[in-house]
Amino acid sequence: MSSQNSEIKEFFDSWSVYQKFIEYNYMHHQELFSATAIELAKKNLPAKPRFLDLGCGDAYFAAKLCEPIKNIQYTGVDLSEVALDYARENLNKVSIIPELIAGDISSILDNFIANKERFDIIFSSFCIHHFQSLEDKKQLFEKIKQCLNQNGIFIQIDISLAAGQTREQYMSQTMLDFYSGLAAFSEAELSFTRDHIEKFDYPEGIEKMKNALAGAGFNEIDTPYQIKHYALFTAS
Ligand SMILES: C[S@@+](CC[C@H](N)C(=O)[O-])C[C@H]1O[C@@H](n2cnc3c(N)ncnc32)[C@H](O)[C@@H]1O
Repeated sequence: MSSQNSEIKEFFDSWSVYQKFIEYNYMHHQELFSATAIELAKKNLPAKPRFLDLGCGDAYFAAKLCEPIKNIQYTGVDLSEVALDYARENLNKVSIIPELIAGDISSILDNFIANKERFDIIFSSFCIHHFQSLEDKKQLFEKIKQCLNQNGIFIQIDISLAAGQTREQYMSQTMLDFYSGLAAFSEAELSFTRDHIEKFDYPEGIEKMKNALAGAGFNEIDTPYQIKHYALFTAS
């Protein structure tokens, strides 16, 4: 595992800190996943749809998203085995028996491509910003495209830069506002979070992300929902 990935894994292995973001809706999971459910409801899905969740974490919201989809076959991938244990619990609670794979999403996608594994929905929330360059993200999108069935859809939720904003401005403006809203965090949790964000968060502007998706071969690309510095992308 690269040293970058082992540090990312270390942060998410301390799942209780990230769990607070979910519990207090600090990253607007509720609104973003509701918007995702609306997008999914528009799709004509096959009888046993295969759903791949890249960087699934504890799948807390993914479980709620998948629960109403009949005969869904859920596969989750994450670096953190701690998070995957929670994911199994959360998915089992809604009667989904998941396939869970510990590892780097890019390498796991390579395996899926080699084994000709295809999915109807590929989903990723708050994960792809850990890929540092736009080119790295584009290469990941190419792999995602190859793993989609013909009528499949890729749905991504992630942080994003405002138009014209640099990563430095994002860290000094957007993130400063964000930290000031984390009332439930102790000083230690705040500093732990801040270290992770400053080292590993590489958001892109929405137009750049759309261009990277188009460059990876996606045709229909949309951002049906945005809230603050978070965006939902759909691509097929
Ligand atoms: C911010 S959490 C998001 C979890 C969940 N998807 C959600 O929306 O709450 C990011 C997750 O992506 C995982 N992750 C980050 N980079 C990864 C990579 N290269 N391969 C696999 N998982 C990765 C982390 O371990 C973590 O569980």
